[in-house]
Amino acid sequence: MNIQWYPGHMTKAKRNMQEDIKLIDLIIELVDARVPFSSRNPDIDELGKNKARLVLLNKSDLADERRNEQWMQYFQKQGFQVVKINAKNGSGLKQIQAAVQEACKEKIERDRRRGILNRPVRAMVVGIPNVGKSTFINAFAGKACTKTGNRPGVTKGNQWIRLNKSLELLDTPGILWPRFENQQVGLHLAFIGSINDEILNKDELAAELLLFLSQNYPKSLAERYGLGSLEQVQSVAEGYRLLEEIAKLRGCLMKGGEADCAKAANLLLDDFRSGKLGRLTLEVPENEEESEE
Ligand code: G4P
Repeated sequence: MNIQWYPGHMTKAKRNMQEDIKLIDLIIELVDARVPFSSRNPDIDELGKNKARLVLLNKSDLADERRNEQWMQYFQKQGFQVVKINAKNGSGLKQIQAAVQEACKEKIERDRRRGILNRPVRAMVVGIPNVGKSTFINAFAGKACTKTGNRPGVTKGNQWIRLNKSLELLDTPGILWPRFENQQVGLHLAFIGSINDEILNKDELAAELLLFLSQNYPKSLAERYGLGSLEQVQSVAEGYRLLEEIAKLRGCLMKGGEADCAKAANLLLDDFRSGKLGRLTLEVPENEEESEE
């Protein structure tokens, strides 16, 4: 599957990011807990070197709890603070303040030594499209906060949101690009609905998803669609056959009684994206992959 990204956008986004990063102490990076690898930007570690880091494992309500724990440990091992959240219902948000303080403790200590007291940590939220940045900012900043006026150096239009006396947030999140040169990443982002479906072949996408699900979450799949004896799918071609079976079981039929795979593909993708197939994670941290085999 070939997914396009435009280099022009990327260059501009990178330039904006480099400018904004100069103004902050802390990068709050949102990743999608179902695809923590694919929803990360390839250059963020380079762009954010010398900055304190906090990773938010968002949409954790849709992801496999066992994997959430593994990913938290994975990011912690890299020296990041990590909090598992659900920006939509607000769970986990209360833990963020403590994580911010911990991530920035060197800066806070440095300020104290210089006699600077109560200078708030300045942070910006970054992430690839659809990862939940706006939902998070709205939920976290809420109504209680006040916007401070424009300040020199802040990209036009950007404002600081004062959350409390120790934290200020840039009100506009930094939009980053994913690793689009990696086709597997493109596929995973398409599964979760982060790539415009119009440009994708949905039947193929569904067949690919069935290949993954039958190998990794066979029980959830069998239960959802009443598949009595689910054999493990070994190829995309077999994925198509399973899609046909699901179409028939679900009564997705065309006039002549043939399986309507396009309808079944929509059904499957909607079920997966909305969590009706259960809490599923598509990616495993590198070191865990080896130890599980
Ligand atoms: P962005 O700014 O990073 O582009 O993402 P945005 O906040 O627009 O969120 C993208 C979608 O993800 C939204 O759904 C939002 O509700 C959903 N979302 C964000 N955080 C979470 C979370 O923790 N859990 C779940 N389950 N969903 C989350 P939408 O379908 O575009 O809008 P809506 O139908 O929810 O209004």
